[in-house]
Amino acid sequence: MLSVKFETVTKTYGDKVALSALDLDIEKGSFVSLLGPSGSGKSTTLNLLAGMLRPDEGEIWIDGNPVSHLSPDKRNIAMVFQSYALYPHMSVGENLAFPLRARRHRRDRQAIAEAIGKVAESLGLGDLLDRFPKELSGGQQQRVALGRAMIRNPKVFLLDEPLSNLDVRLRIKMRRDIKDLHDRVGATTIYVTHDQSEALSLSDKVAVFNEGRLQQYASPLEIYEKPVNTFVANFVGERGMNFIEGSLRSRNGKSVFSAPGMELVIPGRGADDAVILGFRMEAIEPARDDRADARGLIKQVELVGPDRVVLLELEGGQEVVCRTDAGVILNKGETHGFVLTRGKLSFFDKQSGDALASAR
Ligand SMILES: Nc1ncnc2c1ncn2[C@@H]1O[C@H](COP(=O)(O)OP(=O)(O)O)[C@@H](O)[C@H]1O
Ligand SMILES: [Mg+2]
Repeated sequence: MLSVKFETVTKTYGDKVALSALDLDIEKGSFVSLLGPSGSGKSTTLNLLAGMLRPDEGEIWIDGNPVSHLSPDKRNIAMVFQSYALYPHMSVGENLAFPLRARRHRRDRQAIAEAIGKVAESLGLGDLLDRFPKELSGGQQQRVALGRAMIRNPKVFLLDEPLSNLDVRLRIKMRRDIKDLHDRVGATTIYVTHDQSEALSLSDKVAVFNEGRLQQYASPLEIYEKPVNTFVANFVGERGMNFIEGSLRSRNGKSVFSAPGMELVIPGRGADDAVILGFRMEAIEPARDDRADARGLIKQVELVGPDRVVLLELEGGQEVVCRTDAGVILNKGETHGFVLTRGKLSFFDKQSGDALASAR
């Protein structure tokens, strides 16, 4: 288990900045996801740490030691990629043994057999050791790839979208396996994904990237409930956040948010002419009495598992998504009053998209 630290690390390709002044502190033994859309700098970050790339500026530290000058094989790191790249002419057992036969890690037969046994057991590969990759399902192949990376007992484990070639159910199962593995082995794990649900469900902390810049680095709950800007708010969550543009003003120690068709009295959050109110679909619900924050026309009702997801058009014309349990009957074409849960509202500056300081 080792800690990892990026200090103002920048990587450019020609005049394209792939990663901009990254500062990131990863505690030893933790599970951290790098989350962001395609092209946001996630793989660049991982490849810099693995030693496949060198930073243009800044330094990377592993367990307090600078490593930028070290070659990949001196970093005690293992990496698993999206394409598992097993050796097709080798059995599962031979694939697992391969890293131990490589020059720097040569060991005797007995030690290799023991190491294979241990990894095979922890990944449920015991019955597959004599098979060849083409005789395995996608999930089994990916498990072998994980095993091949684990076999040297790396102190840091890097995974670059390792599940994106698998179908949804298998992905959810493998997700659990990876988490389980981390809990047992305890190696510092850095997991790259563009799938927000994967990042939130697996990680101790999530680092959200956009356009080569780290946006927010926090626990999954904080990322979800207190996004630092509208980018994070929208990228995280099943449906992104609902946004309503308006203004905030002070009144009797409280604040009033005003938007077309809506006036919302909330605990004091100062005044600002141009803000965006953000809230998740579980923060709005049908009013039980005549005290509603806004009225909305029901445009669409979707059954999603045990819930209904309802698309509303508020009186001011804003479209909003709301989640109710299936027991609440809302019919398309009807108009209802809705209330917003005060503790679950976020406010952002309209110009910059940054969360208002008083709202955090
Ligand atoms: N070898 C390369 N040459 C030129 N541009 C690159 C190279 N690798 C990555 N990039 C660019 O750097 C940016 C970040 O890429 P990457 O780290 O692979 O993103 P991600 O893994 O988040 O999808 C992208 O704009 C990508 O096009
Ligand atoms: Mg990538």
